[in-house]
Amino acid sequence: MTTPTQTLTPVRSSMLVFGQPDIQTDEIDEVVATLRSRWIGTGPKTAQFEREFAEYVGVESAVAVSSCTSALMLALIASGVGSGDEVITTPLTFCATTNAILHAGAVPVLADVDPRTMNIDPASIEAQITEKTKALVIVHFAGRACAMDEILAIVRRHDLLLIEDCAHAIETTYKGQHAGTFGDFGCFSFYATKNVCTAEGGMVVSRSPELAARIKTLALHGLSRDAWKRFGDDGYEHYQVTEAGFKCNMTDLQSSLGIHQLRRVDEAWQLREDVWRRYDTAFGELPLELPASPFGSDRHALHLYTVLVDKDRCGLSRDEFLRAMTVQNIGVGVHYVSLPEHEFYRQHLGWSPDDCPHAARIGRQTVSLPLSPALTYDDVEDVVVAVRRALGAAS
Ligand SMILES: Cc1ncc(COP(=O)(O)O)c(C=O)c1O
Repeated sequence: MTTPTQTLTPVRSSMLVFGQPDIQTDEIDEVVATLRSRWIGTGPKTAQFEREFAEYVGVESAVAVSSCTSALMLALIASGVGSGDEVITTPLTFCATTNAILHAGAVPVLADVDPRTMNIDPASIEAQITEKTKALVIVHFAGRACAMDEILAIVRRHDLLLIEDCAHAIETTYKGQHAGTFGDFGCFSFYATKNVCTAEGGMVVSRSPELAARIKTLALHGLSRDAWKRFGDDGYEHYQVTEAGFKCNMTDLQSSLGIHQLRRVDEAWQLREDVWRRYDTAFGELPLELPASPFGSDRHALHLYTVLVDKDRCGLSRDEFLRAMTVQNIGVGVHYVSLPEHEFYRQHLGWSPDDCPHAARIGRQTVSLPLSPALTYDDVEDVVVAVRRALGAAS
């Protein structure tokens, strides 16, 4: 018997904010120092963040940008993807993945996900390939690496471009290689809830310094290289417009946060690992479907802990569960309602949820529980009690 929502009371006095960032003194001091330096736009801190991020993922070049959305759009444009091209991607992602394909002028095509890993299914990718397919945009969902051997085989067989949406996958590795380094471009997010956060921000990595340089140019109006230095200590420098670019650069204020967040990335991962293990133990006997184990030879970034709420097993629907958690002052998320459920894509691209049944089912049942390194022991226990109460289990 589940507990009726109207009889539930808060398990804590204030709302536990979902995805709260862990901001510490080091990054606060760095932001203040940057403000005092009077160079707050793109400058030396951003160059440092780029170098340190490139080193972290093991590539030569990284380019900091304003968001993962702009990273994806610029990567697609720099790859030469455009009008008349089809790009295969996953329906279980944030709309940004698909919108970036549309902004590049191409047509997104969906392949369904594997129901257990929730990552794009290589067999479904194969089934969607046509002579117009130019690229794949894959998402390492929740931080779990996609089936890279199979995907790389498809890429080689059909001569496709590969862009990795690593918004969830800052720490992810597959067979020892860092996510974002398998394809032509890897695109990362530093949005407020992400594993490294700069409030808003993104990074493009590439194994090719030439392609990375093109991203840098495209991200700042198409201005010639290092145009950000034009007001520097060396005096005014002229620049050339080399193409009609965009305005997607990262600022030194954001990079000041990123530099210190990146230094603590492993420590934060370990804190989330403790939370993950606590949830696995606490929820093992409940009728929820828990995420597949992330603890194998590949490194999972532990970005999202998602449970599936099946009304037949749990006695309440996903949306009722969301309400039950909110009433108890626990913030929860949904990652994601499958893209074909959105009116825009149904109307403009003719998508239907039935085209991707696994993603549709997950999208109707999934709930993300808090998994931030900022959670205290008591916060985690509050989540455990609230989940058990929502399902009518004795707390
Ligand atoms: C899978 C995925 N791709 C792309 C994005 C877009 O990231 P950003 O907010 O940095 O543009 C997100 C953000 O939540 C995401 O989860």
